Amino acid sequence: MFIIIKDEAGMSREAAKLIAAAIKRKPRLVLGLATGSTPIRTYERLISLYKKGGLDFSQVLTFNLDEYVGLPEGHTQSYRHFMEKNLFGKINIRQENINFLKGDVADIEKECLRYEKAIEGSGGIDLQILGIGQNGHIAFNEPDSLENSRTRAVNLDRSTIEANARFFTRIEDVPHRALTMGIGTILEAKEIILLASGANKAQAVADSIFSAPSTETPASFLQKHSKVTFILDAGASKMIEMKKV
Ligand code: GLP
Repeated sequence: MFIIIKDEAGMSREAAKLIAAAIKRKPRLVLGLATGSTPIRTYERLISLYKKGGLDFSQVLTFNLDEYVGLPEGHTQSYRHFMEKNLFGKINIRQENINFLKGDVADIEKECLRYEKAIEGSGGIDLQILGIGQNGHIAFNEPDSLENSRTRAVNLDRSTIEANARFFTRIEDVPHRALTMGIGTILEAKEIILLASGANKAQAVADSIFSAPSTETPASFLQKHSKVTFILDAGASKMIEMKKV
């Protein structure tokens, strides 16, 4: 399904509405969350719905998609810190209900297995929120990631390091490795919402939708899922619109 909305504010409003409705339907929702610039305003809307008193996160469980290797959770550029700042610290979620990959563990394989088990133990992700990289990556599943990949350590593409450098003081500070849920892990979510805004995502979005599923565009594997909603603004949907004409 596609929801195409004029701008990023509309995209965020729509996404927050769907997430809030899912929490109301199932207060103990298992919610998969993403980082990056794209979901920030969606999280702002969720915070405002919470503050207005209508939305309760006290039973919600969360699993974030990924984390940089080597950054402890208190590091200001860690995704764990990002989530605390942009969402968790401002709603009534219980700390023990927040699940995160730990980027600074000694045994990475064990950590990835622990995460997979935790997802399974929770009953599986009910609703997974995704962004998309300019190269079509989802979470940190870069091109060449396999459809059945599981949670693991990956090397980041140069283009991803460059794109994410804006969050760091110097590009040299961006970690080159990350832990990420796999494409297979993501496809097991019962429902998926992919958010994209801006013309710099238009090509990746079009490839995800129109190219045959392939490792070239990891997000194209979402075509194999039966319940995915793309929420796109005008920029990100530009090439879909062209295709329709
Ligand atoms: C990062 C994250 C992804 C995110 C992507 C897009 O690499 N690991 O989960 O979807 O960037 O980020 P942005 O929303 O900032 O464009």
